[in-house]
Amino acid sequence: MTHHDSSTATPPAPLIDAPERLWGLDPELTFLNHGSFGAVPLAVLEAQSEWRRKLERDPIEMIARRMSELLEPPRWSAAELIGCAPEAVGFTANATGAINAVVRSMQFKPGDRLVAPNHVYNAIRQTLRWVAERDGAEYVEIELPLPVANADELADTFVDALPDRTRLCVIDEISSPTAIRFPIHRIIKACRELGAEVIVDGAHAPGMIDVDVTSQEALGALAWTGNFHKWCFVPKGCAVLHVHRDHRNSIHPSTISHFLGEGFQREFEWQGTIDFTPWLTVPSALAYIEETFGWDRLRTHNHDLATWAHAHLCERWGAAPLTPLDGSLLGSMASVVAPPDLKSRLDSTEHLQHVLYDQFRIETPVHEWGDDWLIRVSAQAYNRPEQYGQLADAVLELARKGPSIPTRRRVNPI
Ligand SMILES: Cc1ncc(COP(=O)(O)O)c(C=O)c1O
Repeated sequence: MTHHDSSTATPPAPLIDAPERLWGLDPELTFLNHGSFGAVPLAVLEAQSEWRRKLERDPIEMIARRMSELLEPPRWSAAELIGCAPEAVGFTANATGAINAVVRSMQFKPGDRLVAPNHVYNAIRQTLRWVAERDGAEYVEIELPLPVANADELADTFVDALPDRTRLCVIDEISSPTAIRFPIHRIIKACRELGAEVIVDGAHAPGMIDVDVTSQEALGALAWTGNFHKWCFVPKGCAVLHVHRDHRNSIHPSTISHFLGEGFQREFEWQGTIDFTPWLTVPSALAYIEETFGWDRLRTHNHDLATWAHAHLCERWGAAPLTPLDGSLLGSMASVVAPPDLKSRLDSTEHLQHVLYDQFRIETPVHEWGDDWLIRVSAQAYNRPEQYGQLADAVLELARKGPSIPTRRRVNPI
């Protein structure tokens, strides 16, 4: 990279003084992976603990008699954030569960095709594969070339490659390995014109970008899901599922329970006994964001920091950017091609991730993408520009010639 524009030349200033004090993250850790499982501020954890205390004081009253009523404020808060009516909000423990609910409620015929871009999250790929196999249908993945110049190119490539008999497309709002913001409105429209149903996997969207599920529904999208435990600071175990009004009675949770046939909201409310305090904490977490940072300020800061980090890492590693340096296809994460020399000392992306953690105390995910290894960084209020500099240095040190580094352990996919 020879130059970048002024918006990426300097990182944004921290939103408040010493924001990291608001989280309980290990101060020795350079935590650049907000994206995988989020990180909950101490004050929001306290709000959840308060709910747990209340619940355990009077469990039957709180769970058996009052659950629906207790879930009303979370439903209203979540609905406001994603732009829909509260009755359209179903809670699940995570986005994987929400997508399983929708896809496993559908039935396909032999010859039907279930389609996703190759940027799809692996758990969702497995879900689509499993359902396709169950029904004798076919799962097809569309290769979208990288680098990509703009949103139109992404949409056009995907839509032009849709095979005959595409019954269902699952599209990421923000992709996981590549951290790209997809032009979902254009893709929904084109898929619907071809008669295919669309599920939007917005796992990363709430809190990171503006979400407007009503406009997606108006274009005919079947469903949308988003995690609130990633970018909304809600404790782990909280996703929202929105289903098109015409289909709400035919989509059921994967765990069928007491309230089968009593409507979308009721069925999703009770999927067996679980800890529903993450759901109850939604209003506190969303209010915390507004009061502490301001929604727009937080989103802008995170986006600007990710855009800066993207340009900085590309420059430090001499990597060709996968998306425009102006950040137009980014939210609050960016993926950068790692120096290929790393492969002379490390045998896999998992290995690189371990070594960064074990030797440098840097937490960041690495994904394989064709012949490349992609390092994804997240940007959150507690991150500082120097942390991306530490990652850049560590990777360059590992990419220098030297003996191969022994592998140590496995990690679950993130
Ligand atoms: C695009 C995408 N979809 C789905 C998921 C799954 O989220 P969860 O593990 O909360 O179900 C993720 C998680 O990172 C994701 O990035």
